[in-house]
Amino acid sequence: VSRGIAAGIRHYCKNTPTKLRVSQALSGAELGSNIKVQGWVRSVRAQKANVFLHVNDGSSLQSLQVIASSELNDPLLTFGSAVEVTGILKKSPHQKQPVELDAKQINVVGECNPVDFPFKIKERHGLEYIRQFPHLRCRTNAFSSLLRIRSEATAAIHSYFKDNGFVEINTPIITSNDCEGAGELFQVEPSGPDHADGENFFSVPAYLTVSGQLHLEVVSGAFSKAYTFGPTFRAENSQSRRHLAEFYMVEAEISFTQSLEDLTKDTVDAMLKNSFPVITYREAIDILRRSSERFAFPTDWGCDLKTEHEKYLVKHCGNIPVFVTDYPYDLKPFYARDNQDHPERTAAAVDLLVPGVGELCGGSLREERLNLLSARLEEAGLEDVYSWYLDLRRFGSVPHGGFGLGFERYLQCILGVDNIKDVIPFPRFSHSCLL
Ligand code: 4AD
Repeated sequence: VSRGIAAGIRHYCKNTPTKLRVSQALSGAELGSNIKVQGWVRSVRAQKANVFLHVNDGSSLQSLQVIASSELNDPLLTFGSAVEVTGILKKSPHQKQPVELDAKQINVVGECNPVDFPFKIKERHGLEYIRQFPHLRCRTNAFSSLLRIRSEATAAIHSYFKDNGFVEINTPIITSNDCEGAGELFQVEPSGPDHADGENFFSVPAYLTVSGQLHLEVVSGAFSKAYTFGPTFRAENSQSRRHLAEFYMVEAEISFTQSLEDLTKDTVDAMLKNSFPVITYREAIDILRRSSERFAFPTDWGCDLKTEHEKYLVKHCGNIPVFVTDYPYDLKPFYARDNQDHPERTAAAVDLLVPGVGELCGGSLREERLNLLSARLEEAGLEDVYSWYLDLRRFGSVPHGGFGLGFERYLQCILGVDNIKDVIPFPRFSHSCLL
């Protein structure tokens, strides 16, 4: 009896297909086996005797070629439909693909009406067109490739910081501070019947964070090197191709820094694996004023550098990334360190400008001297709100600094993508919060 059961099990196993992901099938490890793959049809071509499909399940950039006799063809087997294919995995006679699946059975699991589906087989759709379908665009090769690279870049950033001795800190999404002081805050309030009386849930106004910097400063006071990589929010009423209301920021904070140069060399420079020109804000202003370009915005000392200025400076430096340092003191938030030895009042702040995008990264040395920081906060009427921040200077204050790099702008820059909305899965910007 037991021999009979064993034989039965062996027979069952031999005839039960092994379920593989497309990437596993493409690796060729199961050549000659009876396998099953599940995925979406990326192309379908019927000939007299055979039907050829490409099936992809997102596990690989490449699709698996499927060949079936025309009896298995089905009108529901259309571009975009979800299928389950069972057959024998064989070595392919074609050079372009290592293997092909000789199908014995094809089940259409989910139909896809080709007339209504916004993407058409064999058509090249531009990023702008596919952006109109935020719920479907990850089905396209172009957008799915961008998301795949985004995921790889995320992993690379984490490993860079891990390899360089940084501790990852999850800074809060909800906070009571406006780190940048620019007033571009989304306020957080509860809703629903329990809160109908307008009760203030946190007892203080609370907002979605614009930056994790101040919390990182708290932590760098114990760990020396800390970083965070998470979503940040800005109520900027901008429809530009480089602004989002919700974007991801890589922020790092380092204690015991000596100079701005140290800071940038240690981190941003190393991350981008290069050395770039460094000019001061004063030099930048002089370059802009000497140019024959007609700018829409003023180029006087003390003016913010606008996109048009940033673009010009990058071009002027040879279309490579450029650091601009030592901004006017009043242009920078309260935390920036006063460069007291400069003839013009400047702060030890730095922006990294890159081709095609403009400002990619902003950083500064932080004001670590209690008397200077408390005077500045007092001037702004913020000394009570930031009494905890002053405590960081009372108890073991050290020279320190940090920076924030806009992750979507980084992707835009390295991939040459024109619009920031195409490097984030679900973009949020003014007048748009789809899905
Ligand atoms: O220059 P920002 O405002 O710097 C800070 O928030 C600092 N507290 C960071 C720090 O030192 N820890 O923003 C940093 C970067 C910008 O250089 C830009 O790349 C990106 O964040 N950024 C945006 N990206 C997309 N959409 C927006 N609305 C952005 N605003 C800033």
